[in-house]
Amino acid sequence: MSEAPVDATSTEAWSRLTKLADGFSPDLRAWFADDPERVTRLGFGAADLHVDLSKSLLDDDVLAALLALADDVGVTTRRDEMFAGRHINVTEDRAVLHTALRLPADAHLVVDGQDVVAEVHDVLRRVYAFADQVRSGAWTGVTGQRIRTVVNIGIGGSDLGPVMAYEALAPYRTLPDGGAGPECRFISNIDPTDAATTLAGLDPATTLFIVSSKTFGTLETLTNARLCKAWLLDGLSGEDAAEAVRKHFVAVSTALDKVEAFGIDPENAFGFWDWVGGRYSMDSAIGTSLAVAVGPERFAEMLAGFHAMDEHFRTTEPPRNVPLLMGMLNVWYANFLGAQSHAVLPYSQLLHRFPAYLQQLTMESNGKGVRWDGSDVTTTTGEVFWGEPGTNGQHAFYQLIHQGTRLIPADFIAFANPAYPLRDGETDVHELFLANFFAQTRALAFGKTADEVRAEGTTEAIVPARVFTGDRPTVSIMAPALTPSVLGQLVALYEHITFTEGAVWGIDSFDQWGVELGKQLAQQVGPAIAGDEAALADQDASTRSLIAYYREHRE
Ligand code: F6P
Repeated sequence: MSEAPVDATSTEAWSRLTKLADGFSPDLRAWFADDPERVTRLGFGAADLHVDLSKSLLDDDVLAALLALADDVGVTTRRDEMFAGRHINVTEDRAVLHTALRLPADAHLVVDGQDVVAEVHDVLRRVYAFADQVRSGAWTGVTGQRIRTVVNIGIGGSDLGPVMAYEALAPYRTLPDGGAGPECRFISNIDPTDAATTLAGLDPATTLFIVSSKTFGTLETLTNARLCKAWLLDGLSGEDAAEAVRKHFVAVSTALDKVEAFGIDPENAFGFWDWVGGRYSMDSAIGTSLAVAVGPERFAEMLAGFHAMDEHFRTTEPPRNVPLLMGMLNVWYANFLGAQSHAVLPYSQLLHRFPAYLQQLTMESNGKGVRWDGSDVTTTTGEVFWGEPGTNGQHAFYQLIHQGTRLIPADFIAFANPAYPLRDGETDVHELFLANFFAQTRALAFGKTADEVRAEGTTEAIVPARVFTGDRPTVSIMAPALTPSVLGQLVALYEHITFTEGAVWGIDSFDQWGVELGKQLAQQVGPAIAGDEAALADQDASTRSLIAYYREHRE
């Protein structure tokens, strides 16, 4: 195994943080009152993002100790190793180079003897040409009709990024003449409901499938791809089958041999590389459905946004490096203040899939119990990410964030300009929306004292129920508008936050062995469900009884 990581818990900075956490009594009201510069000192710019950390549970001592910890464990050294293409994914012996996917064409990076930038741009050119053909109608189905619907078949990183971005960039799904671009749909779940409902109402003659799978070995994706192939050939039964598949199926994968074996023309396959993790791949050819929907120009703008945040992370000194600061802040909450989870609350309906996307990014990356040298971790790792767009979340779970007994750090995200500026009479509805964004972070930070509640004439008996303690930490992230570039910046921000936390914990944030056992057991249990008595006997008592229930009730 590789060289041991620095044990964060053995550093002087960790001891300092432990002491600071002991008896830590934040007081955001007093901190703001005593320090008129707090907002300026803790307000940061990163590319087009404005990030306000002033409502965090940070004072100068904590901030200094967190920066010392980052230094002690070598976050920036490891960052530089990642950007240089060192094999920091040690359990798979791979470089980690999603940042190379967004390098400009004139950049240079040779890794393991490979001119990475040239290869990335070769594939991008092919993806863009394909996207243009579909968008212009030059790519036709087997009956000669233009493609109206693109269905992406993929799961995990081969689904969550594309679908999140497709939703986020809905206002950009237009053709050069202003008309609507092709519709995209997404099939991920092996629950047959997903394929059945997604295909419902589609015309095989005008539908094109993109089978997206890094490994091209994922049970869900291959099963769904076969279902879709059968649906297509059934619907186009008068046509030549091989030609129908050629005109209606393309693939994205690192395993191009398997793509061909599946029956997809290698001409219609877009590759990527083992140095791109699945959850870090939406900006590779895995984003082909998005490129079709928004067009190559917008896709390239998104890549430029990713790159701008990469450059910020790569070159900005730690005290002003936003992903590094946010990563260290999360370590403070998770390891020292006992936070069990982390909410992400976009005040943008367009980002409604962003929390789900972040769940894979952060939890598959940092949900690890051993470090990159194989030794046990020395502290709690990983954060439980969850969230919903505001204001829907306000009417669902914010109660617990405001008055519950748990510490839940929350990232609030909002944009100055709405995608759809609507008015309700005299009222700009986006302003009504943003008023909620500003009000929530204010209420969480500063609360409402018992005296303030009493001053409103509240009956004494219910005063305690109406008190808000405040000192509930938030980070506010704002940008001018949710453009393709800003979306790229946001995703890269969270990639690098995740990286920073993993570096502190000494874990390999780029493997995902924890998903393997369940996959293996599913294969073993399959025959048992189908009636193989020997396979059934191999199961544990609980599983046997659940299978018995299933068999008794299945009609
Ligand atoms: O099972 C987890 C996982 O390997 C993810 O890491 C990945 O994004 C997903 O499955 C899909 O994998 P693939 O793109 O190889 O089909």
